Amino acid sequence: MPELRLSEILLSQDQIQKRVAEIAAEIRRDCPDDLHLIAVLKGAFVFLSDLVRQMQGHVSLDFMAVSSYANSTSSSGEVRLLKDLDSGLDGRHVVIVEDIVDTGLTLTYLQDILRARNPKSLRTACLLSKPSRRKVNVSVEYIGFSIEDRFVVGYGLDYAEQYRNLPHIALLEQ
Ligand code: IMP
Ligand code: MG
Repeated sequence: MPELRLSEILLSQDQIQKRVAEIAAEIRRDCPDDLHLIAVLKGAFVFLSDLVRQMQGHVSLDFMAVSSYANSTSSSGEVRLLKDLDSGLDGRHVVIVEDIVDTGLTLTYLQDILRARNPKSLRTACLLSKPSRRKVNVSVEYIGFSIEDRFVVGYGLDYAEQYRNLPHIALLEQ
């Protein structure tokens, strides 16, 4: 693995837990009766598991896995679906749960394909956002923290599949 090292903690476990509880309450307020959460694997698995445990009432879950095309069509943001949903979205109140919105291309693509499945409403929750990196204007209704353009790991986010297990968000430096 390249020579990178963890430097400071950007967001502590405590800060994250408090913010996740607030987001859970906001989502529940907006979708009080029906709620279907769709987590984008792998990065969102920790955020989803904390989010869902802060929620009262009925909530169902599904997962999708995506990957960017290797010989990058990065300007289109088209992603390869590695795992599609188990069930349809017709008439459901759906919230996409994602770890981070960077350029916004991945989320724009996902929102387009999920909207075509006719949910009653479609919203998006991201733990992190890097607004200075945005290439497309994507709507994200719930944002945990807006951060600078630095590479972060932990709390589900990886570098070369490592560091997902950190309970906090840390900066990775060269
Ligand atoms: P984008 O918004 O389409 O550019 O891509 C967002 C995806 O890039 C996220 O789902 C992450 O997988 C990845 N990503 C972007 N910034 C970071 C970071 O700082 N750490 C780890 N993954 C990142
Ligand atoms: Mg991701």
